[in-house]
Amino acid sequence: MSISTLPLNNGYTIPQIGLGAASLNDDQIAPVIVTAIEAGYRHIDTAFRYGNQRGVGKGIRDSGIRREELFVTTKLDGEFQGNERAVAGLDECLRQLGLDYVDLLLIHWPLPQRDQYISTWKTFEKLAKAGKVRSIGVSNFKPAHLDRLLAETTIRPVVNQIQLSPRITRPDHVAYNRAHEIVTVAWSPLGPGSDLLKEPLLATIGAMYGKTPAQVVLRWMVELGIVAIPRSSNPQRLAQNIDLFDFTLTTAEIAAISALDTGAEKRVDSDTMGH
Ligand SMILES: NC(=O)c1ccc[n+]([C@@H]2O[C@H](COP(=O)([O-])OP(=O)(O)OC[C@H]3O[C@@H](n4cnc5c(N)ncnc54)[C@H](OP(=O)(O)O)[C@@H]3O)[C@@H](O)[C@H]2O)c1
Repeated sequence: MSISTLPLNNGYTIPQIGLGAASLNDDQIAPVIVTAIEAGYRHIDTAFRYGNQRGVGKGIRDSGIRREELFVTTKLDGEFQGNERAVAGLDECLRQLGLDYVDLLLIHWPLPQRDQYISTWKTFEKLAKAGKVRSIGVSNFKPAHLDRLLAETTIRPVVNQIQLSPRITRPDHVAYNRAHEIVTVAWSPLGPGSDLLKEPLLATIGAMYGKTPAQVVLRWMVELGIVAIPRSSNPQRLAQNIDLFDFTLTTAEIAAISALDTGAEKRVDSDTMGH
């Protein structure tokens, strides 16, 4: 069964499950990309900061897939904020990836203490018009950061990629994004470093559908209209993480999974964190 897509506010679409590419170097990520594409992934999430865009590009070429079948996201961090610096940043990303364009370019963190995300976004708007990037978006933006962006610039972000899992549900951020036709993309969707996947509720729900806790978490995101970008370098788990489209969760199950956010899990605060 193929991966569902969501519409973006500029007419393009985004596959609801993508492959996260953080924490793997060039040599590690290239074969993972090939395996993922063979398994059916059509969306890859990388960043300049991950230092693995050459490996991502090699994996794409080695897979033999046609470019237009893939949705590739990259991100520019603080090094490329302000004074048109994003122009050189995108050129370098494209060079490393070996691509003519990316589907989605994100401001990796707002870094409000620098006060450069508005000028960076205006540069992104020019890049979008120049055709080297199909869509532009943001990451780790709070509603207050987006309020300012929407008031002072012309093109609306298509997505806001934020830390989100059943332990960190951020309902106010998700509602804000939805109200402004901005798709929410969940990073660290499986709650790495926490006990999320050991949560008995996920095993109980999974047992009813013949699915693992990770699949229940990812299906919960699909049901909520969120995009998730789980990372795995294990072929079985890669396949598992897109095998989500032959079952649905009930309203009560969705609510019970959302209630796993007790507020106790440590979460990033992008007023003070980021790079
Ligand atoms: N915008 C941002 O600031 C930001 C920040 C962090 C991350 N990201 C993006 O979000 C992506 C995902 O986040 P993440 O890599 O932090 O965490 P994640 O994808 O939620 O979790 C990855 C961990 O889960 C394991 N895993 C994957 N599938 C599994 C399954 N089916 N069952 C059990 N364990 C499973 C992986 O191990 P195995 O490899 O052994 O399967 C890995 O240890 C990143 O790769 C990156 O692209 C963005």
